[in-house]
Amino acid sequence: MHRRLIVPSALAASLLLAIPASAASFTPGAPGIGDSYYPASGNGGYDVSHYDLRLKYQPATDLLEGTATILATTKQDLSRFNLDLGLKVSEIRVNGRPAKFATSGDHELEVTPASPLAKGTPISVVVRYAGKPSEFKIDGWSAWARTPDGGVAAQEPDSAVWWFPSNDHPLDKATFDVSVLVPDGHQAISNGVLQSQSSRLGWTRFNWRSNKPQATYLATLAVGRFDITTDRTANGLPVLNAYSKDLGDNAGAARASIERTTEVAEWLESVFGPYPFNSLGGYVPNVTSGFALETQTRPFYSPRQFANGSNVSVVVHELAHQWYGDSVSVADWKDIWINEGFARYSQWLWSEKEGEGTAQELADYVYATRAADDPFWTVKPGDPGAENQFHGAVYDRGALALQALRNEVGDEDFFAILKGWPQEHAYGNAHVSDFVRYAERVSGKPLAALFDTWLYQPSKPAAPAAAPAGQ
Ligand code: ARG
Ligand code: ZN
Repeated sequence: MHRRLIVPSALAASLLLAIPASAASFTPGAPGIGDSYYPASGNGGYDVSHYDLRLKYQPATDLLEGTATILATTKQDLSRFNLDLGLKVSEIRVNGRPAKFATSGDHELEVTPASPLAKGTPISVVVRYAGKPSEFKIDGWSAWARTPDGGVAAQEPDSAVWWFPSNDHPLDKATFDVSVLVPDGHQAISNGVLQSQSSRLGWTRFNWRSNKPQATYLATLAVGRFDITTDRTANGLPVLNAYSKDLGDNAGAARASIERTTEVAEWLESVFGPYPFNSLGGYVPNVTSGFALETQTRPFYSPRQFANGSNVSVVVHELAHQWYGDSVSVADWKDIWINEGFARYSQWLWSEKEGEGTAQELADYVYATRAADDPFWTVKPGDPGAENQFHGAVYDRGALALQALRNEVGDEDFFAILKGWPQEHAYGNAHVSDFVRYAERVSGKPLAALFDTWLYQPSKPAAPAAAPAGQ
């Protein structure tokens, strides 16, 4: 940035030239965005609007090579800033000019541009990098799953550092173009719409676009040999599902579940309002892990989710997250209840609709089967701690809190709250406290005590979330 200086004398001018008047205000961006549970997650000083990832992956060697172009805007006068990445960087340019870079800690990349960046400036950051994602570990742990025919990045709260440089926190969402070159016969699966696919010289390129704000942990990449099904919803949105060719006995149950994505999403629209994204689907790579994840527009499902036959409930859970978690995201990882409590409760609503037990019956069951001395009740869903972020209590006790809310405010207000919240914070971030205030506003009732009991006490509430008399 150039500043006009009022120069009183030649001497003063030479002093000012030696020490730029503005230098003092240019400071490094913070190495973390300020998360309560993960202080190193994300970074300060800038806000990303778009990631363009151009990658090449070789299943035989697990080598991932790429160029990321990051479009961002500075939020302070920046002397340098951090990105989060676990792979090896060979070159960085900021606004076209070579930048200095250094790694610090596990996966912090410090970038010093050729000249400082004034607050409010649009910047482009080009990062060339490469590595074998499976070799990068944090505390001995990897979010990258190498499979017999490829690899998968899908984990929470961290997965981005295994495959692209980013401001790795849900507070900084951005749109994504992900272009991946894989050997012919393999597919690359990511978020959003498959814009095009083409093959030459033995390599096939897949171009994916996710055109609504997306948190970094909700970006996914899977390479492997997949069977792909495509369709359109009644509203014309493209549906694309991908199934590893290597799902063994689970293949039928996986397809019998995930092919119902459109039906489940339509039902969820009746509860939560319009679907927030430009495409739908799911994918099942041949991983050995057992979980599922709400990767935006296209959830990840492990084959083990389908070991006992079809499991539409997990599809309900991951699709519910598209509203509760993906469109409205946590502002801090301690707010995880605004994702998991609602995704679990939507499974109870699905059960209610299917005649497999009402939400009240399921709530009563959880309450009755968890004795007062069960450590389950020591976990506070409203602030579970990083080590218990995905504890069953965040899900089940979290859903009990919603049953208690439903009984307190009645069905009309309860369902108005469920539908209104994703509109209120669409494509944004929120805290648990924002939800409490919102529910109070819609219902006109004070609810602090109810939520304190169900979300913040480290003990079993004295009375279950009882249905009001006469219901
Ligand atoms: N949000 C995910 C879900 O749908 C939880 C993923 C937790 N991670 C794990 N490795 N289990 O419930
Ligand atoms: Zn979940």
